[in-house]
Amino acid sequence: MTNTLRIKEIKCEYKKNPLGLDIKKPRVSWVIEADRRGMIQQAYQIQVSLAKGNFGDPIWDTGRVESDQSIHIEYKGPELKSRTRYYYRVKIWDHFGGESDWSEIAWWETALLNSNEWEAKWITPNPDDLDPLLEQVFLLRKELDVKVNIESARIYATSAGLYELSLNGERVGDELLTPGWTSYNTRLQYQTYDVTNQLVEGSNVLGIALADGWYKGNLTWLEKRHIYGDRRAALLQLHVRYEDGTEERVGTDTTWKSSTGPILMSELYDGERYDARLEKTGWNGSGYDDTYWNGVIVHNLPVNHLVAQENWPARVTEKIHPVSAFVTPSGDTVLDMGQNMVGRMRITVTAPKGTKIVLKHAEVLDKDGNIYFGNLRKADQLVEYTTKGEGKETYAPYFTFQGFRYVKVEGYPNQENGLPLENFIGEVIHSDMELTGEFECSNEMVNKLQQNIVWGQRGNFVDVPTDCPQRDERLGWTGDAQIFIRTALFNYQGGPFFTKWLRDLKADQRSNGSVPFVIPNALKDYISTLWGDETYTSSAWGDAATVCPWTLYLSYGDKRLLSEQYESMKSWVDFIRVQGKDEFLWDTGFHFGDWLALDAEEDSYFGATPEHMVATAYYALSTRILRDTASVLEKQEDFEFYSKLLNGIIANFNEAYITETNQVIAQTQTANILPLMFDLVEGDVRKQIAYDLNDLVVKNDYHLTTGFVGTPYLCIALSENGYHSTAEKLLLQETYPSWLYSIKKGATTIWEHWDGIKEDGSFWSDDMNSFNHYAYGAIGDWMYRYVAGLDLVETESAYKQIRIHPRFGSGEITFARAMHHSMYGKIVSSWSINNNEMTIEVEVPANTTANITLPNARIGDIKESGKELGISEGLFELSQFDGGVEVTVGSGSYRFVYKES
Ligand code: BGC
Repeated sequence: MTNTLRIKEIKCEYKKNPLGLDIKKPRVSWVIEADRRGMIQQAYQIQVSLAKGNFGDPIWDTGRVESDQSIHIEYKGPELKSRTRYYYRVKIWDHFGGESDWSEIAWWETALLNSNEWEAKWITPNPDDLDPLLEQVFLLRKELDVKVNIESARIYATSAGLYELSLNGERVGDELLTPGWTSYNTRLQYQTYDVTNQLVEGSNVLGIALADGWYKGNLTWLEKRHIYGDRRAALLQLHVRYEDGTEERVGTDTTWKSSTGPILMSELYDGERYDARLEKTGWNGSGYDDTYWNGVIVHNLPVNHLVAQENWPARVTEKIHPVSAFVTPSGDTVLDMGQNMVGRMRITVTAPKGTKIVLKHAEVLDKDGNIYFGNLRKADQLVEYTTKGEGKETYAPYFTFQGFRYVKVEGYPNQENGLPLENFIGEVIHSDMELTGEFECSNEMVNKLQQNIVWGQRGNFVDVPTDCPQRDERLGWTGDAQIFIRTALFNYQGGPFFTKWLRDLKADQRSNGSVPFVIPNALKDYISTLWGDETYTSSAWGDAATVCPWTLYLSYGDKRLLSEQYESMKSWVDFIRVQGKDEFLWDTGFHFGDWLALDAEEDSYFGATPEHMVATAYYALSTRILRDTASVLEKQEDFEFYSKLLNGIIANFNEAYITETNQVIAQTQTANILPLMFDLVEGDVRKQIAYDLNDLVVKNDYHLTTGFVGTPYLCIALSENGYHSTAEKLLLQETYPSWLYSIKKGATTIWEHWDGIKEDGSFWSDDMNSFNHYAYGAIGDWMYRYVAGLDLVETESAYKQIRIHPRFGSGEITFARAMHHSMYGKIVSSWSINNNEMTIEVEVPANTTANITLPNARIGDIKESGKELGISEGLFELSQFDGGVEVTVGSGSYRFVYKES
């Protein structure tokens, strides 16, 4: 008989069986599946062992621990050793007296826990032989001997630049753009590879291809190179363990050889040039004659800033074929991928030696139907392949990615007779996060919007959260990230992704607490040098320092991250404290304000909402978050200090920005949104401001005018203050400006501008017109929480206490469903209306509870799973209120049906 209580998935540091952790006390989480409703975990037991399948002599056994904690349980056994696999399993009991079987056995494996374990040396081609400034990708090789009876083998590797590793002619791993992008001078990730099965007895060859990448390639629209250093270098250490217990190590050192190969140029913005005639066949296999290769020298780079891979690695996550190929009015042959995607094209071709095929990538067609490159600014996005002419050849660029839907093809054999679509594949590349969210509703255009949000997230989560993936930016703009994070965490598991990025934020934060515009800070001091020292940070951008860790805490209950970021959060708020004329207002300095709002003056990007009002409102938000963080981390003194500070800011905000008629001083949508959203006003003032906001929207015929600051909150502010139907109308608005306008114009991702493509098909200027900018996709948060009604009770984190509150609006949406795979498991909130009959279906994962609001319901009229609604197993509380019924339930599936009253 199967147990009614099962452990469904177990994870360590958000990941299933992570290889290569350097966390000294990893945390374990699990998801429970229970047949009975209302399951709460009563106790757990974790065992950790060095031997798989043998827990007879565990190194750590918690014994039975009375606790309902099932996420982020910290390992507290003996100190972990490097390069060791730790097996673990979990068992639980519930409060019904049930006991689960042991879970399946999972593991984590440590990497190098101390930097003194790096014996290998950083190497770079000898500059006397190979010019370090060459555009060509370098190749490094090393032949080594391996004995018989290998038990296991691991490679730890990283680079200054980007690298790809091979062993005996085969690629090692499937990660792309390694070692990822961090604040390189303070933190550099290395990767761990299990190469046990790739090594052979006898001679083996290690190969490394080394490109410029973020480290030294062209970066930012200011065209800076060598931001982190002017030499590419590699560091690699191979550990081979034999069955007899002995071990052998091989690392990068001066016995390696270097050369160049077929990649003539590879740059993130500009693309890649590959000449297959220059391939060094067999270079990364044994028996290759490297007599004429060059030497390498030791390069002086540190190892004490190396960290094991933190993020989800970037990979090819999907392959798509072009939907068509056509010739444009100007005569270009163009492929249409059917989707604005981020990644690369893989082409297959048979052609005579020396045939040059050129791919130029772009996002849109102009109004005449020609492929449009203008918005890429200085990014070439050009990939060029020259054939070797020995039969069928396949190629995809190695160290670059493009943002595109359309590809102009030149030089493909016989292309005037049409392109063979099967020979072109779009490989979608991004950080390979787990998908954790779904949203759908009765409106197909809104469903398309959700898909566009998800595509926008995929394209802009290529190791760092970027503004856009195509033009000469692709930078970790802090404002964009903090605006979008809550939506992002619904859609994908973003724990490792943002943990890594926040560590970089902390690393790149200035000593006075100010936060650079972009993280990692590729802009360094370039902008402040150009525009003055004040132009180093901005409100609503730097606030990523508080908003992001707090949102991760809310979504995942990650308290460790909060405490890791605490000093960074605090120094950001303390930085603001000394900016204004008094400590309660931020009324100085440069700010992006409500960036790109439609109420901006002609030819300006800065919206009409006073920038210092935005600054002070965000100051209050960050202070509130800091205060709440102090409370979670039990820092009483700070809690009191920042509570007082917050009260002071709110009082001063009211004095400075609210008039005697209870209105905000500037009648823009965003100016009305902020005080409502950040709880800066109450009572009659709040009512008046909500009224004004609604009025502004209605008078604008249900169109928004908001930019980066107002847009994410516009619908929330309306729904929370009695105007949900207005919010719904904004969502469903199809004419410009609106979310659905872009859908009508054929968008497959979120645009930077509401009018990226105008009614007449012309563009907003070349200057700033990305068609893949996730910022306005922040509406997704409202769709999950207010349309489908899947939310959490904020006094608890990680959806331990779920809040289900569907809102029906004016009846235009008749069905909505959201799913979120939380740390506790799958949550579903789904509702539909049919002839006044409401059906609300809810799934609540084990070990959580949910407060469900059934709008316009009366207790006596509700059927739950076919029965009269009443207190029963899993259904703890029931109460009638004016607007409907509140039900508190435990885990399980529930189906409420009632006629609207
Ligand atoms: C980026 C934005 C960013 C902004 C700063 C732009 O160039 O693409 O998304 O936040 O600059 O205002």
